Amino acid sequence: MRVSGAKNAALPMMCAALLTARPLVLAGVPRLLDVATMTKLLAQMGVAIEQRREGRMSLNAKEIRDPTAPYDLVKTMRASVLVLGPLLARCGQAKVSLPGGCAIGLRPVDQHVKGLQAMGATIAIEHGYMHAVARRLRGARIVMDLVTVTGTENLMMAATLAEGTTRLENAAREPEVVDLARCLTAMGAKIEGAGGDVIRIEGVASLGGAEHRVMPDRIETGTYLAAAAATGGKIRLLGAAAESLDATLEKLRAAGARIGVDPSFIEIEMAGRPNAVSLRTAPYPGLATDMQAQFMALASIANGTALITETIFENRFMHALELQRLGAEIAIQGNTAVVKGVERLQGAAVMATDLRASAGLVIAGLVAEGETVVDRIYHLDRGYEALEKKLSALGARIERVK
Ligand code: EPU
Repeated sequence: MRVSGAKNAALPMMCAALLTARPLVLAGVPRLLDVATMTKLLAQMGVAIEQRREGRMSLNAKEIRDPTAPYDLVKTMRASVLVLGPLLARCGQAKVSLPGGCAIGLRPVDQHVKGLQAMGATIAIEHGYMHAVARRLRGARIVMDLVTVTGTENLMMAATLAEGTTRLENAAREPEVVDLARCLTAMGAKIEGAGGDVIRIEGVASLGGAEHRVMPDRIETGTYLAAAAATGGKIRLLGAAAESLDATLEKLRAAGARIGVDPSFIEIEMAGRPNAVSLRTAPYPGLATDMQAQFMALASIANGTALITETIFENRFMHALELQRLGAEIAIQGNTAVVKGVERLQGAAVMATDLRASAGLVIAGLVAEGETVVDRIYHLDRGYEALEKKLSALGARIERVK
């Protein structure tokens, strides 16, 4: 199976197109609902977007008519907030809806705001919108209170056009941040240190066009690896980037999987029931919170008891209750789920609550005896390209029903 381009790299890169009047051409953009939502948002601002074959997308923000991100789009996709930094840097103003709460936690954007204010922006909250203004952003030293992925990306993008040098401390080290830095560098930005916790950006007067290939999706990769581990399968994932998956591969090996790594693919083979593996989510290079639900599905049928601790989002255990409907034995104690593996799950109707929770439910459904029906699969369509087709090709019995 071939891995798709990374959603969480493609979305910020699409926003990076706002930084230049020249075309940005991205290759390997996955076909997803979130990409369609971002396309709609940018098109509404006046960005000309052409989607070509095989995930090639050209974005041209020659003119930005209206630097606004309305509530109806931001509430369906929080990543919309990634337009704030680029709009402010390019147009000197932006009006972006506050995202509000979300299914997995509070998820405020105070660090995005704090960083832009340190760069000289004035940001007022009126009628649920952030109204940001800045004549020209100035470089600044910004120490983030916590590690935030889109916060780091927003500030890094804004800083590319600021006057002087910006130093982002306690920056997110996620591979998607590094890929975005590569894309911005191809556009003419001067960035050092992406991938570490201090990123230095020297502002330039303007950025140009570029061509960039989006990195492979490490969470999609991890999801299929977990599915193979749960079902006792053997699969090869082409185009997967093993170097971005160390923590996931280590946990899968501990669960008993045999994993082979090549520069162009990852192979997994699993025989028998998985061992119970405890884990704790953490910012990169720790285990991704976006893999927690899939590992919980695996732990549900493991031999032994696993402790799964979620440290990034305060409400990301909604799938535990749904897994219980399939017969999983899970007790929640604060931010830890105690998962006692059972030999068999039983198919049932379950409800998807967010993107990764849905992926966990699909994995559980694949191993459960009988039929499982997952409702609200628009969550899956936000972040998994052709999930049912890819899984069918690997031998799963799965179909999309009306
Ligand atoms: N936070 C704040 N203030 C801020 C920003 C974040 O308190 O200003 C908190 C959040 O509430 C959370 C923690 O910091 O508790 C980390 O959140 P982060 O900002 O890193 O999350 P994000 O940037 O909104 C991205 C991914 C998520 C992924 C998280 C964590 C994108 C578009 N989204 O979100 O992906 O879970 O990082 O790795 O990159 C997904 O793909 O399913 C998904 C949810």
